[in-house]
Amino acid sequence: MGKSRRTQVCIVGSGPAGLLLSQLLHRQGIESVILERKDRAYVEGRIRAGVLEQGTVDLLREAGVADRLDREGLVHDGFEIAGNGRRHRIALDELTNGKVVTVYGQTEVTKDLIAARLAAGGEIVFEAADVTPHAFDGSKPFVTYSHQGQKHRLDCDFIAGCDGFHGVCRQSLPQNAIRTFERTYPFAWLGILAKAAPAADELIYAHHDRGFALCSMRSESISRHYVQCSPNEDLSKWPDARIWDELRHRIGDTDGHHINEGPLLDKSITPMRSFVAEPMRHGSLFLAGDAAHIVPPTGAKGLNLAVSDIYYLYRALVQFYKQSMSDLLDRYSDQALARVWKAERFSWWMTSLLHKFPNEAGYDRAFENRMQEAEIAYLMSSRAAQTVVAENYVGLPF
Ligand code: FAD
Ligand code: PHB
Repeated sequence: MGKSRRTQVCIVGSGPAGLLLSQLLHRQGIESVILERKDRAYVEGRIRAGVLEQGTVDLLREAGVADRLDREGLVHDGFEIAGNGRRHRIALDELTNGKVVTVYGQTEVTKDLIAARLAAGGEIVFEAADVTPHAFDGSKPFVTYSHQGQKHRLDCDFIAGCDGFHGVCRQSLPQNAIRTFERTYPFAWLGILAKAAPAADELIYAHHDRGFALCSMRSESISRHYVQCSPNEDLSKWPDARIWDELRHRIGDTDGHHINEGPLLDKSITPMRSFVAEPMRHGSLFLAGDAAHIVPPTGAKGLNLAVSDIYYLYRALVQFYKQSMSDLLDRYSDQALARVWKAERFSWWMTSLLHKFPNEAGYDRAFENRMQEAEIAYLMSSRAAQTVVAENYVGLPF
């Protein structure tokens, strides 16, 4: 065994959840160490979320990492839904008393957080192998890991499992300690990042007979687009020209919307899943973010949910260390899950509304297809229905 040492909170995973928790705790004088399996370049380069709720932006400001976000983030006060041959704008600000979202890549959030942690002398152990949480049933947990061929032991008061869906923390819990809920979908997203101006000023979510499509962006010169594909899709069957062609078909290349082509910077497939593990705490181990729950990306909620979990966990830890009270820690799982389930519902609903469900052998989907068209038509004609979408999209209160 190499060095044995101690910190207050051991954080597993340096995604947005782990990094933000570490940074917020640091600003309250609470120590943490982050153990991350991958290297820094991998973590900073992983292209994922793009839409930040107001509550997420506010918490990043509280963490002192929002200077670049405030300068470069694109504030969006609406988005468009296309379907049934029509297009309709959801006016987020008008429908929610002025609330908006900010388009700013998860890669940038991660870079800003890593830079802030390192500048403040925070410790992130990249390329930590065989990370294993121990003794979290009691009050003296510790984590073992290997780094550069040496074994290490880190003693702590709490372990924060921020290690994503495939992480080790949830999997270390006794089987009967958690209940899981899961739904997989019969489709996936093929996502591209392209050096091309966005198709429009705002995001466009499209329901089309050939499948769902989404036009998003990262900046005024970088587009991020998605097209629905099958879950086992072979990327080699999607040369660039086919992707651009599908986008034009599904989005509709008309007035005010032009799919600008450009060289691809990234091309990847994202499976679609809804998943929740209950409860989000076991003894002194707390799960947060994708480690505890997954949403399909249609509602743009995954990163935002990771951030709201951290908001609850951070406040609970501050209360524990500053006031020697643990009632917020005791309420963490219930509080976080109450918000998680609402975002799960919205993400599942947006996914069901906008995707083309493939035909199953022996089952006629004609009725469901008409229901989907009717629901899109209703949404486009009813301010009440649009208000429901807008209220959820900008983010329910923490
Ligand atoms: P992660 O980002 O997964 O971080 C977990 C970290 O733990 C990783 O760095 C991993 O390497 C590390 N780790 C894993 N196992 C171990 C181990 N054994 N030991 C040590 N470290 C480990 N969300 C939104 O809110 N808005 C969007 O617009 C949006 N769009 C998306 C688009 C796509 C294509 C995808 C894939 C996701 C999208 N999401 C979106 C979801 C969002 O990206 C995730 O919810 C978010 O990354 C969760 O953050 P996290 O910190 O919980 O987990
Ligand atoms: C993105 O820009 O990557 C993005 C935007 C909206 C979503 C999902 C992903 O719903």
